[in-house]
Amino acid sequence: SAVTRLPAPFPGALDGPRIAGLTERYGTPLWAYDAATIRTQIARLRRFDTIRYAQKASSNTHLLRLMRAEGVHVDAVSLGEIERALVAGYDVTGEHEPVVFTADLLDRATLHRVVELGVPVNAGSPQMLEQIGAASPGHKVWIRINPGFGHGHSRKTNTGGEHSKHGIWHEHLAESLEIVRRRGLDLVGFHMHIGSGVDYGHLEAVCETMVKQVRLAGQDVRAISAGGGLSVPYAPGDPEIDTDRYFDLWDAARQELVAELGHPVRLEIEPGRFLVAGSGVLVSEVRAAKPVGSNDFVLVDAGFNDLMRPAMYGAEHRATLLSPQGEPRTGHVLDTVLAGPLCESGDVFTQGAGGEVHAVPLPQPEIGDLLVFHDAGAYGASMSSTYNSRPLIPEVLVDGATTRLIRRRQTVAELLALEETGA
Ligand code: LLP
Repeated sequence: SAVTRLPAPFPGALDGPRIAGLTERYGTPLWAYDAATIRTQIARLRRFDTIRYAQKASSNTHLLRLMRAEGVHVDAVSLGEIERALVAGYDVTGEHEPVVFTADLLDRATLHRVVELGVPVNAGSPQMLEQIGAASPGHKVWIRINPGFGHGHSRKTNTGGEHSKHGIWHEHLAESLEIVRRRGLDLVGFHMHIGSGVDYGHLEAVCETMVKQVRLAGQDVRAISAGGGLSVPYAPGDPEIDTDRYFDLWDAARQELVAELGHPVRLEIEPGRFLVAGSGVLVSEVRAAKPVGSNDFVLVDAGFNDLMRPAMYGAEHRATLLSPQGEPRTGHVLDTVLAGPLCESGDVFTQGAGGEVHAVPLPQPEIGDLLVFHDAGAYGASMSSTYNSRPLIPEVLVDGATTRLIRRRQTVAELLALEETGA
């Protein structure tokens, strides 16, 4: 292709030269986040009573500190995420549940810890309610309802309907409320998260269903949660979500409940991606470029062990090619397949949901150039693995002129240390 594609916009202070400077200091590959972009996204949701960050999207404790400083509460889906919230300074017993544990089961260690700390539990199964009730009568709980339908950017991120393991099936809500009563649990409210990648048609149905379920349950609730799932634009032309419209839909549902219950009902939202996706980039270095039959491959030093989304969902992340000094390359554009170093054919950044490889236009690279993947702040670092015995890569947080290494690069020795069992 002879078309020159404009490079995707960089987030805030993270422009090309700044990125190049980071790679000089910390090497490649690396994750970098722009703090101002995160604050802007938070501000767009301020009309909700509580913004609860789904930290699975990016759980570095320094990002959690930033969230806490902005008054954002946090969701935890594992014992590890609870400990992260504590390290970031969250007070689990503070007003309006600064930390909530959301899951479909409670393993023994987590049950012990949520009871010890008094972390409210958002229950996704009747068994969770029984177990927390037996261990901790009076414990604060939420009930996550599976409304019978869902929606996602991929089958794998659709969390409602009968093919999803998530939440308490809407027809079993009465039984679950019976457990709440019998065990003397303190019900805070109802929660629904039908998947990642919102669409207003589904949203209206979720709002209606929430009101209907509260009515059917004949249950007094202090709060409702809209869950997460707000989409972000990844590809050029992807729509930007209208957060006012989103709030207005939920607020109308809330107002119906307020009228019926006769007291205020808090409205929470629980986004992950929306708050952090656009703030983050994955910076890699071009190490090889070779024609393979009719395909031109460019190989970089980051793989799907670092950024898993393309291999897992066929997700698209725009990529910008920079000189080692951080100037966007503008030369002759070629249709290019972008791939990583892993010993696995699926280690390709440009592929469809079925794994079929495709090419994207990219200026012809020189070895040593930087390839920057955009919108990688959500489900990037947090989904990384050490496959192929590749250590976890560093994370850097840029806040205006300030740069902070918020996770250093793991060493191979650290990886291997877990196997030094002394046996
Ligand atoms: N609340 C609950 C109960 C969730 O399960 C999730 C995401 C969220 C909130 C936040 O969803 P978000 O606002 O980030 O869409 N790894 C996939 C996404 C998996 C989402 C899992 N649950 C991806 O990379 O697209």
